[in-house]
Amino acid sequence: MTEKPADGLMPFHAMEILKRAKAIEATGQTVCHLEVGEPGAPPAPRVIEAVGKALPQAQGYTNAKGMAELRDGLAAYYADWHGVAVDPDSIVCTMGSSAGFIIAFHTAFRPGARIAITRPGYPAYVNTLLGLGFGIVEIPLTPANGWKLSGADIAAAHADSPFEGLLFASPANPTGAAVDRAELADIVATCKRLGVRLISDEIYHGLDYRGPSVSALELTRDAIIINSFSKYYCMTGWRIGWMVLPDELVRRAEILQQNLFISAPTLSQIAATVALGERDYAEEQKAGYAANRGLLNDGLRALGFDIGAASDGAFYAYAGISDFSNDSMSFCETLLDQAGVAATPGIDFDRAGGNRYVRFSYAGRRETIEQALERMAAFLK
Ligand SMILES: Cc1ncc(COP(=O)(O)O)c(C=O)c1O
Repeated sequence: MTEKPADGLMPFHAMEILKRAKAIEATGQTVCHLEVGEPGAPPAPRVIEAVGKALPQAQGYTNAKGMAELRDGLAAYYADWHGVAVDPDSIVCTMGSSAGFIIAFHTAFRPGARIAITRPGYPAYVNTLLGLGFGIVEIPLTPANGWKLSGADIAAAHADSPFEGLLFASPANPTGAAVDRAELADIVATCKRLGVRLISDEIYHGLDYRGPSVSALELTRDAIIINSFSKYYCMTGWRIGWMVLPDELVRRAEILQQNLFISAPTLSQIAATVALGERDYAEEQKAGYAANRGLLNDGLRALGFDIGAASDGAFYAYAGISDFSNDSMSFCETLLDQAGVAATPGIDFDRAGGNRYVRFSYAGRRETIEQALERMAAFLK
């Protein structure tokens, strides 16, 4: 069932599928969870250990922008991994990247302003922007171009319907598409030429399988950078992320953070500070996703899903289902009910063309993917 409320807000269908999967599990049946975009592993053991020790003292608010140790750690991360000097004062630690979006929108724009996003794209972009009173312009992407956004796409959309901001993720959800340095430079230069403020969602950084992740910070100081400990560091439920702001926007972001959230959770900031030093652990998880990526992509293709090369990054396969169905929600419901495989309908990411796609996450265990492929083979026969 697809709800269409007047203000354009839509349910997150992945969560509806998860709810249905939990109900099935409550009857004693097993479900292969490929619907939710979160790592199967917990954070690094040292993170848990540090939080246990810190618990008795970590009861108060922190500085609105975040603990100095964490912001210093993040500045060191940019120096080490991206070769850029970042002033810790330009960093605001947030409750996941989700809170970062709210601060970014209200820092850089006024309600009513139009922000461009890609279609397909992360569903919360549309819902958050519309819910907060901003307008959206959707830039359609195509599998022919590897689902990648280009400067030409931005310029064409802007000529058609101008916008003040562009929010874009690389690697992207749901396609896993990632731009390389030259492609990102093209996007940055186009935004500059058009006077469009870029918000670069770098939440899947670290999870690039073709080369190192390139931060927009390496190319410009005009963009708002948003990132999070949720994915690479396996900390979705800790609700901790960060933003790096251009100088002229830092103070307004700080004021919004003070008023909207006061500070990011203290214990999670302590955990995040330790996580930054646990890259070996994060890389181990990434190696697991890299192996899953090939297995799932090949398996889906063999089953008749319409899918190109394995995604560049993140941990998703966005697969065409045209040979099976033209209604992605009902396909996912039937797949769950009859085969015990949970996947996310494409309409979560693309209200126009998403009925022809389903997103599978490969962030879980290899055995789950193997079992899901076996179950789907029996179901699709
Ligand atoms: C592209 C993208 N951005 C942001 C988020 C939100 O992440 P969090 O608020 O946990 O940092 C997600 C979550 O799936 C995502 O896929």
